[in-house]
Amino acid sequence: MTVTVQVELEPRPYPIHIGPGLLAVDGMLSRLTTDQRVLVVTNDTIAPQYLDALHAALGRAAGVGDCVLPDGERWKELGTLARIYDAALDHGCGRDSLFIALGGGVIGDMAGFAAATWLRGVPLIQIPTTLLAQVDSSVGGKTGVNHPRGKNLIGAFHQPHAVIADTDTLATLDDRQLRAGLAEVIKYGLIRDSALFEWLEAHVEDVLARHADALRHVIERSCRNKAAVVAADERETGMRALLNLGHTFGHAIETATGYDAWLHGEAVAAGLCMAARVSERGGHLTSAERERVERLIARAGLPTAPPPIPVQRMHALMQSDKKTVGGRIRLILLDAIGEGVIRDDYRDADLAAELERGAVPAASSRLGDA
Ligand code: NAD
Ligand code: GLY
Repeated sequence: MTVTVQVELEPRPYPIHIGPGLLAVDGMLSRLTTDQRVLVVTNDTIAPQYLDALHAALGRAAGVGDCVLPDGERWKELGTLARIYDAALDHGCGRDSLFIALGGGVIGDMAGFAAATWLRGVPLIQIPTTLLAQVDSSVGGKTGVNHPRGKNLIGAFHQPHAVIADTDTLATLDDRQLRAGLAEVIKYGLIRDSALFEWLEAHVEDVLARHADALRHVIERSCRNKAAVVAADERETGMRALLNLGHTFGHAIETATGYDAWLHGEAVAAGLCMAARVSERGGHLTSAERERVERLIARAGLPTAPPPIPVQRMHALMQSDKKTVGGRIRLILLDAIGEGVIRDDYRDADLAAELERGAVPAASSRLGDA
């Protein structure tokens, strides 16, 4: 069964189609593409598994070119982006061409940024193939690449024309990547959907066991949450910042560890727990709720603490993230489970205490050294 969630953005709303078999020849994609020139951006892990199916589905397009990039977060950088532009030139992609991102969040962010900037902007379809990309990164139009000194520092907003989340593709995703995607699902529960959080407390093992109904539920529910937030604040002038819960901590962990050792979702998971502990120290979140956050994240097989990173380094990296206001790090914290809040008025000592805690080898950190 296919479910469609609409992102109600003016002037161009777009659909997120979620379900099995959407990459099939007679499936969703063949109905969406016309006779325009298409550039498919993917990587060398995904290409052998799904590129043929995509080509078959794109039968009607005038010409389909591929750009197969090396796999990995460390390739999400300006040099790799140049390869997409080269491929666009090689395949004669004009203003009326279509870019397709086939892959996880790394491919989606890079192909999206290339689409935003090629000839000052061409249409994009996102075909997310990881849980993380299906619940988060393919929706909402944030695109970009990392800088060696900071995550996602170079980027643009560029909304896709459609998102096609074929849940069958998750069958080939490894367990670690599936768990990483769950971190973003837990995030929605924490910032605005306590019922989703409670559902996860009851059913997280069903998601980890890849029960189809459980996977579809978390993808649809997450997309509904993200679509609502993005529709209310596309350019993050206000409440969209709630989607960054755990991310300022997480991005610092990713940068400090060289974009290799920790997956994005793992770093976010540790960041969610760090935000919960700072919220508890500030007297906003009860100890019982903080414990529920840590317990669910641990049950999802995700880290509840960062690797040991010197406090000064962590602080400097958080400061260079995109969320400082007047030089002060703006934190997303929790007033309760289901109630995220954007805070400038936290006590510096509460943040410092959390960073100190992370600076020593933490017993609960699953992944070891930075
Ligand atoms: P990823 O794109 O690196 O994919 C994870 C791994 O899974 C890769 O090795 C990939 O090749 C492989 N893979 C992908 N699909 C597969 C499949 N179906 N079967 C087997 N292997 C498959 O990582 P991710 O977790 O999808 O995305 C993380 C990225 O997303 C980060 O760069 C993060 O900054 C970004 N992100 C962006 C947004 C946004 O709003 N734009 C939101 C959240 C995260
Ligand atoms: N992942 C954060 C956002 O899309 O705003």
